[in-house]
Amino acid sequence: MEGSVDHNETLDSLLHEERVFRPLPQMMIEAGVNPQDLRAARELADTDLSAYWEEAAEELDWFTKWEKVLDDSEPPDYRWFTGARCNIVYNALDRHIETVNKNRLALIWEGEPGDSRQFTYYELYRAVNRFANGLKSLGVSKGDRVVLYMPQLPETVISMLACARIGAVHSLVFSGFSARLLRERVREIHPKVVVTVDGFYRNGQVIRLKEEVDRALIDTPAEILESVVVVHRANVDVDMDSARDYWYEDLVRHERPHAPAEIMAADDPLFILHTSSTSGKSKGVIHSHGGYMVGVHRTFKWVFDLKPTDIFWCAADPGWITGHSYLVYGPLLAGTTTVMYEGHSLYPQADRMWNIISKYGVTIFYTSPTQVRTLMRFGHRYPEQHDLSTLRILGAVGEPFNPEAWIWLHKNIGKGQCPVLDTWWQTETGMIMISPMPVSVLKPGSVTRPLPGIDADIVDIEGKSVPEGKGGFLVIKKPWPAMFIGVLGDEHVIRDHYWGRFPGMFYAGDVARKDEDGYFWIQGRADDVLNISGHRIGTAEVESALTSHPHVAEAVVVGVADKIKGQVAKAFVTLNYDVVETDDELHSELKSHIHRELGPIVIIRSIEFLDELPKTSSGKIKRSALK
Ligand code: PRX
Repeated sequence: MEGSVDHNETLDSLLHEERVFRPLPQMMIEAGVNPQDLRAARELADTDLSAYWEEAAEELDWFTKWEKVLDDSEPPDYRWFTGARCNIVYNALDRHIETVNKNRLALIWEGEPGDSRQFTYYELYRAVNRFANGLKSLGVSKGDRVVLYMPQLPETVISMLACARIGAVHSLVFSGFSARLLRERVREIHPKVVVTVDGFYRNGQVIRLKEEVDRALIDTPAEILESVVVVHRANVDVDMDSARDYWYEDLVRHERPHAPAEIMAADDPLFILHTSSTSGKSKGVIHSHGGYMVGVHRTFKWVFDLKPTDIFWCAADPGWITGHSYLVYGPLLAGTTTVMYEGHSLYPQADRMWNIISKYGVTIFYTSPTQVRTLMRFGHRYPEQHDLSTLRILGAVGEPFNPEAWIWLHKNIGKGQCPVLDTWWQTETGMIMISPMPVSVLKPGSVTRPLPGIDADIVDIEGKSVPEGKGGFLVIKKPWPAMFIGVLGDEHVIRDHYWGRFPGMFYAGDVARKDEDGYFWIQGRADDVLNISGHRIGTAEVESALTSHPHVAEAVVVGVADKIKGQVAKAFVTLNYDVVETDDELHSELKSHIHRELGPIVIIRSIEFLDELPKTSSGKIKRSALK
């Protein structure tokens, strides 16, 4: 009924970002996918989803082609490329060494102390084959699981690919996690082998990872785990258990640099990766060889408008999905050069990232809003000291990108010449889902529109599409090839949690709104919505408003109970390094700033100034800790 909007069904939107950035003429001329191509792709995907993805799959090599592109006869058990046989590593390595890519750099790695290693496609191919044979000599075969408790090292990439090559399922455990978590994962995953390092460099320290492994594996029977492989990195003393532990170098020394790529069904598992949950229990998400490969390859090439001369740097850790899809698999599938950095972004000082970009001539830099805000606190002095002129595209993922940080990146790093692509996706989606392309018109803070083939919408609590401007739950209404094929342990999670909340739709767990141009604005996780006097407001809007104040670097807002208003907001803020005002002055200044930006609805009860915000190991703000 007119005028009786129930505020519990949709979200209010208070923040209105008016700035618009159009693609530069040169980009329109040079882009591999121009606006007409994009329109045609959308039309094809809308009328015939299978035809669109079939065309994407044809760009890759298959041992046997599919009988069907998509079997959707038993939703939500969607199956992609049924009957097809492939191996993602064959596509990431073998097919390149038949071409001029053979001698191209596949991987540029820089260690935190400043050492560097580089691998051509041929060298990487040989290293992967050697370790694949090494793993086989330890009894690892198709279907076995291998846990990789590894930092950012070439051997991490080699291990992932070596597993996948022989059909073993890899599972990265982030190297910032402790023995306790590793122990949990080993007991959940039952790997035949754990691969790790003696130690590695992080923020000027040596982190002794093998010691964590030893702690984690106390009393672990050989039925759960047979061997541990240790890569030399920091050359620190470690205890080696002669019945269980092998040096990586000893294992590969005499192995042949050839190993056949195992023939895998398209929906055979490739890896298990746990979600980086900000609250609640993390889920072990499973991805496939075939569908994942097609989705990641297409989105990598299209979103980043890949050119043969590109040097691509994804600054995420391989322990997270961003590292899997766009540091390792996407770039290698596309035959480009991928950059990996071992250490901390502020070591030895706050210009390390800019130094790496200029040193290797990085052309595409894919990072996270958190990282941008961290570097932004140091101002524009550091980026100005480096030649960033090779950059042509910037991207981010992981959290709502507040417009001020977006603008800072665009201006100070991209010098106004590089599109900033805010890409929305998840561990579960495997690939970028909602994102601009370099020819898109950009609005800072918006992830713009779904990519071709992605049917995203925003619905109310009953699953009905909400009108423009209103917020609601972000859902995906059609399957996509890189979608996860399972969750470790609990099969019901898929039916109940992901596809059960709104029947026939994938529930992403985020709240968002769509504007008059059909652009999506992510407003935060559904669990974090504020409810002030019946107005439901995404935390991202209030946080963006706070960070639009020139003194604020990062902000997080949580709801606290209030007798009258239901909830009011409490803010935690970090400041830029040059701020001189007292906390009291800032307190009232920020409150009036919020009033100006968002109007009278959002009441900030209190603001706490912190040196650092608590973050998850993947860099997301830990709201639950602040609550
Ligand atoms: O809340 C969204 C946020 O990150 C969640 C997914 O986290 P994870 O599985 O760890 O994957 C992160 C890297 C793909 C989403 O549900 N998120 C991701 N990208 C964005 C985002 N929030 C706002 N804007 C984004 N671009």
